[in-house]
Amino acid sequence: MTSITLPAYAKLNLTLDILRKREDGYHDLQMVMQTIELHDDVTVTLTDGDGIICRCGDIPGDETNLAVRAARAFFAETGVAPCGLDIDIVKRIPAQAGMAGGSEDAAATLRALRKLLKPELPGDELERIAALVGSDVPYCVRGGTALAEGRGERLTSLRSAPPFYVVLCKPDFDISTPMLFSRVKVSELWSRPDTSGMLEAMHRGDAGGVASRVKNVFETILPKEYAEVFAIKERLRRLGAEATSMTGSGPTVFGLYRDEAAARAAYVKLSADHAQTFLTRFV
Ligand code: C5P
Repeated sequence: MTSITLPAYAKLNLTLDILRKREDGYHDLQMVMQTIELHDDVTVTLTDGDGIICRCGDIPGDETNLAVRAARAFFAETGVAPCGLDIDIVKRIPAQAGMAGGSEDAAATLRALRKLLKPELPGDELERIAALVGSDVPYCVRGGTALAEGRGERLTSLRSAPPFYVVLCKPDFDISTPMLFSRVKVSELWSRPDTSGMLEAMHRGDAGGVASRVKNVFETILPKEYAEVFAIKERLRRLGAEATSMTGSGPTVFGLYRDEAAARAAYVKLSADHAQTFLTRFV
C-alpha cells in the first residue's frame, strides 16, 4: 500500500474551561470535546522523491502547514527513514474557526503514516508525537467524546455523547488563538462551565443534562468587536437550539438539536445570511 485517504473530522468544545496560566506560557485547560461529521479528506501518498508536497485548498502547503509538521515529527520521532510524500487535503472545515481544522489534518496525516509505514506503533506513542505538533492534535488523533486536560494533550475517553444534530455558523472574521489567550486573567473569569456535572451527564447518557452544561469560558472575555458571536447564539436559540456556544477560541458558533427537522430549518435560515453555515451531527 502506498496511498491512503482518511477523513479528518472537525471537533467541537462542549465545554472549555481555563484553570491556570503555566510557567511555560500555556494554560491548563479542561475541555469536553466531541467529534462531528464535518470533515476534510486527507490523502497521503508515498513517493520516490525526498520532499513533502502538500496541497491544502487556499492554505499554504509549506513548512507552516500542520500536516507537513506532523509528517516531519513522525519521521523524527519514530526513526522510520524519511521518504517522499504527497499530502493532498480536500478542505471543508473552515480555517481559524475553533474547529481544529489544521490539527485534524495533522492528526489524519499521522494516522495515515502509521497505517502506511509503522502499523505496530501504539496509539499512546502516536498521541505523544501529536502533542509535539500542537495542543489539540492528540485529541484529534483519538477522536470521539473525550475530556482533554493539561495543555489539551491529557486525554480521558468518555462514553459516547448522546446523539445531537449540529448547526454551525462561522461569522466573517477570524479570531487569533494566541491573542485570545493573551487576554485571559484567570482570577477574573466568571461563569465557568460545570465540567464535573457535564462528565456525570455524559456518563448517564443524559442528553438534556449535556445540553444544559454546554459552555465556553472564552465567551466571557470576547472583545466587543466580536459581538456577532452572541447575535448568532441568540438566533440559534430562537430557532430552537437546546444549547448554543462558541467552539474553541472561536469564532464559530454551534447550536445543538435533537430534532433533525428543526436543525435543518435553522440551517436554512442562517445560511441565507452567513455563507459558512453547516448542518452536521455528532459522530
Ligand atoms: O499548541 P498550539 O500551537 O496549538 O497553541 C497555540 C497557542 O495557543 C499557543 O501559542 C498559546 O498562546 C495558546 N495556548 C495556550 N494554552 C493552551 C493551548 C494553547 O495558552 N493550553
